[in-house]
Amino acid sequence: MEERGASRKRKRARTRRNRGKSEAKQINGFQKEDDSKASAYSKLNTSQRVSKSSTFLEKMRARLSGGHFRMLNEKLYTCTGKEALDYFKEDPQLFDMYHAGYQEQMSHWPELPVNIIIKWLKDHGPSLVVADFGCGDARLAKNVKNKVYSFDLVSNDPSVVACDMSNTPLDSVSVDVAVFCLSLMGTNFSSYLQEAYRVLKPCGWLLIAEVKSRFDPNTGGADPKKFIKAVCELGFSSISKDFSNKMFILLYFKKKEEQNSNRKKDIEWPELKPCLYKRR
Ligand SMILES: C[S@@+](CC[C@H](N)C(=O)[O-])C[C@H]1O[C@@H](n2cnc3c(N)ncnc32)[C@H](O)[C@@H]1O
Repeated sequence: MEERGASRKRKRARTRRNRGKSEAKQINGFQKEDDSKASAYSKLNTSQRVSKSSTFLEKMRARLSGGHFRMLNEKLYTCTGKEALDYFKEDPQLFDMYHAGYQEQMSHWPELPVNIIIKWLKDHGPSLVVADFGCGDARLAKNVKNKVYSFDLVSNDPSVVACDMSNTPLDSVSVDVAVFCLSLMGTNFSSYLQEAYRVLKPCGWLLIAEVKSRFDPNTGGADPKKFIKAVCELGFSSISKDFSNKMFILLYFKKKEEQNSNRKKDIEWPELKPCLYKRR
């Protein structure tokens, strides 16, 4: 009995010694790794050290602002225009944060829809009066000779009027072209199109550029035919559509000359799913 008890004690002591050795090895392993990093870092001169830590900080900053952008973007797609206006009124800096992220996303698009609309306006002449609904940085107004009324939730430029675009200060029947370039974001997007109908002159143009995935029924997007039908019921004729670009679609409508007397009161608008950007 005594012999067996003593052998168990010896075994436990051996196990403890071995465990201790392997922990020491692990710690030494980490220590070695840390030592080699520290020694590599110590070999850098001051400017190399500064640039290494600033690259790290830049990466962290980019990651944080990317996260903020995605959060703000989702917010804009899932609330009404009025809620979005109140949100940015409380903290206008969030709008700059949204636009910095938006510009970053756009820098990966081979072609920008706003440039196609700019070209369209140049082809159709400078006399057309334009309303740019959800103008962003007012790139459209800055690149054409036309008179352009620019609207967005926040104004960082004297030429941009801050408002919810379902309710602009424009007179009824006063503009020739209404533009929505990637801006049908709010859950009440149909009220923006109603506002465009109000301000457009008879035969005035309605140009819509939207993210393609929002109109892809195979991935939960709206049926473009249903959307076009709803816009026509509002009082427009569909003139042409362009689905050739990989990233966005373009729809061209004209306001009917005569107001539709039997205009349907309840138009069935398809739901437009949010366009959520992936983490890069
Ligand atoms: C994706 S950005 C596109 C900006 C610009 N049209 C372009 O193509 O670069 C959409 C813009 O629509 C604006 N927007 C969304 N809902 C709005 C609303 N209810 N009233 C005014 N602007 C709105 C956003 O603030 C944002 O600046």
